[in-house]
Amino acid sequence: CSTVLAVGLVTPAMAADLTVGFSQIGSESGWRAAETSVTKQQAEQRGINLKFADAQQKQENQIKAIRSFIAQGVDAIFLAPVVATGWDAVLKEANEAEIPVILLDRTVDAPDDLYLTAVTSDTVHEGKVAGDWLVQDVGDKPCNIVELQGTTGSSPAINRKKGFEQALAGHDNLKIIRSQTGDFTRTKGKEVMESFLKAEDGGKNICALYAHNDDMAVGAIQAIKEAGLKPGTDILVVSVDAVPDIFKALAAGEANATVELTPNMAGPAFDALEKFKADGTVPPKWIQTESKLYTQADDPMKVYEEKKGLGY
Ligand code: AHR
Repeated sequence: CSTVLAVGLVTPAMAADLTVGFSQIGSESGWRAAETSVTKQQAEQRGINLKFADAQQKQENQIKAIRSFIAQGVDAIFLAPVVATGWDAVLKEANEAEIPVILLDRTVDAPDDLYLTAVTSDTVHEGKVAGDWLVQDVGDKPCNIVELQGTTGSSPAINRKKGFEQALAGHDNLKIIRSQTGDFTRTKGKEVMESFLKAEDGGKNICALYAHNDDMAVGAIQAIKEAGLKPGTDILVVSVDAVPDIFKALAAGEANATVELTPNMAGPAFDALEKFKADGTVPPKWIQTESKLYTQADDPMKVYEEKKGLGY
């Protein structure tokens, strides 16, 4: 298709000629599952043949999937990289095979000429937005914070931590007293929060929880309730993603704020790819998605209703 129609607009017939391999991380969170369904929907609507590979959280499975996509001669590869490092070799292989790679939702520590573009949010900014909200809400009071980090070595875990710490800088009344990975999952979020509560006088010594995603926050909320405390009141809860369940928690007063991450990374990625294949238009290296803050004041049940059907 790219050789026959080297110049000109994308037509549905062209999109139908495209085969895209998608190496997805797994299904650790509600957000991740929504990203998968939106990607499948987007491909179907555009008539694109999508080859989907679930890596079950393992980088080695993602590398295998990419090699298999290259061997099959796909037109492009979408990669949601589980961790940030260790991609150079396989990206070079895709590059040598002239198969463009588009990163979805996470970034890699590799030269940017090894991929066409990255569709992601500014994950440092997400952490900063969450931290700024907390700094403002707490004011001058002393506040001990516990942090649930995402998957170790993943770009959102590294950057959401960094951005949050940037927001706290200069506000010595706010302190991160414990920080551990909850792997972006609800189960681990609950388990780690239980250990934080136990270690901190049943939670009496904790003023706020910062979770790198909503699923871990939802698990932690359960742990806080089981410890006999009120999440959202005794322990403030701020997280990232804006999945439907956190809006239920916001409506119930059990969560306080979330930073939205759209699960629609594939829409902008397919747009960029279709243009590139149609007339060689090279997209910017970074296609940035928005990071909007939601609090209990934002009519959470209305947003909950709106969220359904957007991949959730
Ligand atoms: O990379 C995006 C993150 O990955 C989401 O915030 C989290 O829910 C997911 O697992």
